[in-house]
Amino acid sequence: MYSALQLLDRVNACISGLDIVHSPENLYAPVEYVLSLGGKRIRPVLMLLGYNLYKDDVQPVMPQAVALEVYHNYTLLHDDVMDHSDMRRGKPTVHKVWNENTAILSGDAMLVLAYRLLSRNNPPHFREVLELFSQTALEICEGQQYDMDFETRNDVAAAEYIHMIRLKTAVLLAASLKMGAILADAPSEDARVLYDFGINMGIAFQLKDDYLDVYGDPAVFGKKIGGDILCNKKTYMLIEALERADANQRKQLEDWLGKTDYVPSEKIAAVTRLYDEVGIKGICENKMREYYASAIETLSGLSVADEKVQALRKFAEHLMYREM
Ligand code: IPE
Ligand code: IPE
Ligand code: MG
Ligand code: MG
Ligand code: MG
Repeated sequence: MYSALQLLDRVNACISGLDIVHSPENLYAPVEYVLSLGGKRIRPVLMLLGYNLYKDDVQPVMPQAVALEVYHNYTLLHDDVMDHSDMRRGKPTVHKVWNENTAILSGDAMLVLAYRLLSRNNPPHFREVLELFSQTALEICEGQQYDMDFETRNDVAAAEYIHMIRLKTAVLLAASLKMGAILADAPSEDARVLYDFGINMGIAFQLKDDYLDVYGDPAVFGKKIGGDILCNKKTYMLIEALERADANQRKQLEDWLGKTDYVPSEKIAAVTRLYDEVGIKGICENKMREYYASAIETLSGLSVADEKVQALRKFAEHLMYREM
């Protein structure tokens, strides 16, 4: 068994070994740029942790693991355009260094590169892997569309939010784990259990991402704090704040949501202050813990020896307590 850290080293080595930059430079340089900025690499690591439960040598499936990371980075290029985000991983985003058209086209190229890596060396059960990957990619588009649709609605329910983050974020973590299981010829019940674990982990993960977008340290988080507040993102925190606010607080929140002309730092400060008044930090932490606990519980359904599952459990814990 490898630890998550050992797997991370292998993933990073593989990504460094990708021969990306060809002509035209303005298409490929952004691909190399975003991939070289690091990031947690959790999707390939989850895939390899899943695979490693059943097979000792992870080398044969490294291209498929890297495919997941290249795919994820493609979604980030487009997401940063959609969210008007100018910082990621502590550096300016691709559409800031180059421009929006470049972020779109280099993103497209990364999606294609991801499919190419996915099929490299004709992996076992390729049709099943391909179907899982395509279905997941489509669900992520659905989640991203809901995320944008919700920006202009003020009546989004918490259940709608959970459905949205399940699609935009959790299914990729789940599919990564399940892909590891499929590639390793694991029993199909185990593949299903790993998928469910990934869904619950993924929901907790996005709740934490939204939380860090308000309460994180920008130097560690690598993104600007308050971006979600400026976009009127219907996060769990905002939905619950609207729900639990008294009449006066609710009016203030709604006023900020309706403003088109404001000083960004003032809106972030005012909305954060209202969150604090309502006690949203603790409410959000409880919700995260709920999904995290369900995730850990799910793991008992796996057929493998408990000590093997330990690496996965430790990694989930590390994600839960992360600050980036
Ligand atoms: C960012 O993903 C997008 C979300 C789903 C929250 P990560 O938090 O995994 O970003 P990196 O890859 O580590 O930078
Ligand atoms: C992104 O969610 C989900 C996808 C990229 C599909 P966010 O918009 O919250 O991710 P960050 O905060 O920009 O990384
Ligand atoms: Mg974003
Ligand atoms: Mg987004
Ligand atoms: Mg975010």
